[in-house]
Amino acid sequence: MRVSRGVWLFVVLSAVLLALVGIAAFKDTSSRDYLTIQEQYKKNYGGTFSLQVQELFPTFPEATVGGAFRTERCISCHVPDIATVGPEVAAQRLSQDFFKYEPNAKQIAADNHLTGIHPAYITSNGGENPPSINYTEFGADGFHPYSFILNGQTKPTTAQLPGFIPAFLNPANSSAKEGIDTVGCIVCHNGSRIGLEESDAHQNLIVNPEYAFTEGAALYYKNCATCHGGAGEGGTGPPLSNQDRLGFFNEDYYYRCIEYGFSDYEHYGSVMPNWGSIASDFHYDSKRDKQQPNPVRVLSEQQIQILIQFIRHWENYSTLP
Ligand code: HEC
Ligand code: HEC
Ligand code: HEC
Repeated sequence: MRVSRGVWLFVVLSAVLLALVGIAAFKDTSSRDYLTIQEQYKKNYGGTFSLQVQELFPTFPEATVGGAFRTERCISCHVPDIATVGPEVAAQRLSQDFFKYEPNAKQIAADNHLTGIHPAYITSNGGENPPSINYTEFGADGFHPYSFILNGQTKPTTAQLPGFIPAFLNPANSSAKEGIDTVGCIVCHNGSRIGLEESDAHQNLIVNPEYAFTEGAALYYKNCATCHGGAGEGGTGPPLSNQDRLGFFNEDYYYRCIEYGFSDYEHYGSVMPNWGSIASDFHYDSKRDKQQPNPVRVLSEQQIQILIQFIRHWENYSTLP
């Protein structure tokens, strides 16, 4: 009997698909770093949750695309029984566990100005249900206006900074209190959404959104808005709010851009200043370079880190794949 090419193609493609599914399943079971953390949690608090991957399913429609959830797996390590204990207890445990399990917690807390008090709800004015986060202050259009002078102009421009809590979570438009158990961690902490391993999960994470927003914004409008625009839309410099680039590049790339500016190979010949040091292999080339790099550090390493966190706030939750 002759078997047609179409059938062969089908068989081969099915085999490839099966192999891919197999690899994914293997990776999922072999890289469960979170299990030890969950076991530790269970020892400390008791509780009756399953030790499998836990997920948070945010209730707002923007959390799904084509019927599939875009949730993160933060919850497999952080308060795995959050759905049972609720946002208030979960918020307390988030802070306690951080100081209990993280050996370097004191340093991280100091660097990111963590208070050790995690918000449990998003509320209209931050007054009720403490601890809560204030939508009026950190919501879509509540945030502080900044003025800056756009490159080539003399009159100052005012930018109204949108906050980091998206408009669809405005508590004024919903009768239910929005707790961190219903909105999902990623709304405030941008990061890798499907990271199973600790290192993946924490890639590009915004540790303290509030601090990155206040301190980061002040640095941005003082030093960067003149070339990159009041809302990161670009001008003399390229846009920093570009969703494709934000989703693609890691913090390391942004760090190098800001630290070395045009003294690093990626930006040779441009007007992007070096805000930190001069790249070690930089040699001035009068044909290529428009200026000499600044020999003095303008921003500290920590200030550059905060600026990266601030820029990442343009990574829009509602437009990501
Ligand atoms: C409504 C915004 C928001 C949501 C949602 C949110 N966080 Fe946070 N998170 C914050 C803020 C603000 C801080 C800094 C708190 C401080 O000043 O110490 C923080 C700090 C933290 C810390 C550092 C320890 C601490 O308590 O200070 C951890 C860990 C953390 N968050 C994990 C999570 C996880 C996991 C989730 C999802 C279950 C989550 N967060 C959801 C805003 C949020
Ligand atoms: C593999 C387990 C694991 C996963 C998954 C995970 N975390 Fe963590 N995370 C930890 C541990 C362990 C710490 C340190 C102490 C603690 O809070 O328990 C930590 C610390 C943090 C901190 C404090 C600052 C820092 O960077 O150390 C934040 C904020 C945080 N996680 C948020 C998240 C968010 C948001 C997600 C999901 C995108 C997530 N985590 C996923 C294990 C995990
Ligand atoms: C004098 C104008 C100017 C100022 C001020 C300036 N930049 Fe730039 N920036 C540029 C230009 C021009 C580029 C593009 C370089 C190139 O073409 O390689 C750039 C590139 C970048 C990039 C890389 C963007 C990408 O998608 O690859 C980042 C990130 C960046 N700048 C951040 C900052 C930050 C943060 C500040 C403030 C501390 C700042 N810039 C201040 C002009 C400027």
